[in-house]
Amino acid sequence: MTRIVYVNGHYLPEAEATVSVFDRGFLMADGVYEVTSVLDGKLLDFPGHALRLERSLAELDMASPVTPDELLAIFRELVAQNGVTDGMIYLQITRGNPGDRDFAFPDPASTPSTIVAFTQSKPGLADSPVAKSGIKVISIDDIRWGRRDIKTVQLLYPSMGKMMAKKAGADDAWMVQDGFVTEGTSNNAYIVKGGRIITRHLGHEILHGITRAAVLRFAAEAQMVVEERAFTLAEASQADEAFITSASAFVMPVVAIDGATVGSGTPGPVATRLREIYLEESRKTAL
Ligand code: PDD
Repeated sequence: MTRIVYVNGHYLPEAEATVSVFDRGFLMADGVYEVTSVLDGKLLDFPGHALRLERSLAELDMASPVTPDELLAIFRELVAQNGVTDGMIYLQITRGNPGDRDFAFPDPASTPSTIVAFTQSKPGLADSPVAKSGIKVISIDDIRWGRRDIKTVQLLYPSMGKMMAKKAGADDAWMVQDGFVTEGTSNNAYIVKGGRIITRHLGHEILHGITRAAVLRFAAEAQMVVEERAFTLAEASQADEAFITSASAFVMPVVAIDGATVGSGTPGPVATRLREIYLEESRKTAL
């Protein structure tokens, strides 16, 4: 079965789903994206992703080519046409194709934005065996730009970080700026100490994770104590537990940082419980 991809209002077989070489997403990384998980054919945390998309677009002076309702309809159609049970939807919106290469933003009246969305099927996504063993991370310098709260497609450094991790025999990297952990290459970072969940406060330094927001809400509802503040690698090395969150990994335990085990070296009770709660609760509100 050939995958059906959405491009600017059309549902096309993937071989026919193309954009121009002059597209600013291709030439300038002038675009934003969202990753939304699909479980049992339904979209997790859709309103949060739609809201963050609008914010990313607004921060870059890009008009939204679709309303949240239209986006929901597109996502549902893609899930249906591709028969996705578990997996994800990738959405990208760029400043479009002005027909030439120019640094100045084109006039949106003559250059409509480009919108592309596709599915990736991942059967058994929620039952990942990795969640039972946990992942290992290394630390790397955070040398990304200063507006990480905007979900842009500039993912070269996060890709390099993943490769550095792989080379070091680890699964991912946590990025560090001025001595404090910012976030993972494609996820938010947490430690647990004495029952307290610690994760960096919101700001321009990190992406405002939709999974983060949900997990912190569920943690508070379960009477867990949450501290939103920066933490150091030294503090992380003394933590009882560590974990990450993202739309694709949900809540994923971290069992080693820079080769040293965290806590017992196995997934801890807080991360394990939060993963269960997140999956249970977000399935209930899936659209
Ligand atoms: N990444 N921080 C960064 C740098 C991210 O790229 C992501 C998401 C997150 C977590 O955000 P959310 O919970 O909304 O997924 C944090 C997606 C999954 C990706 O690039 O594939």
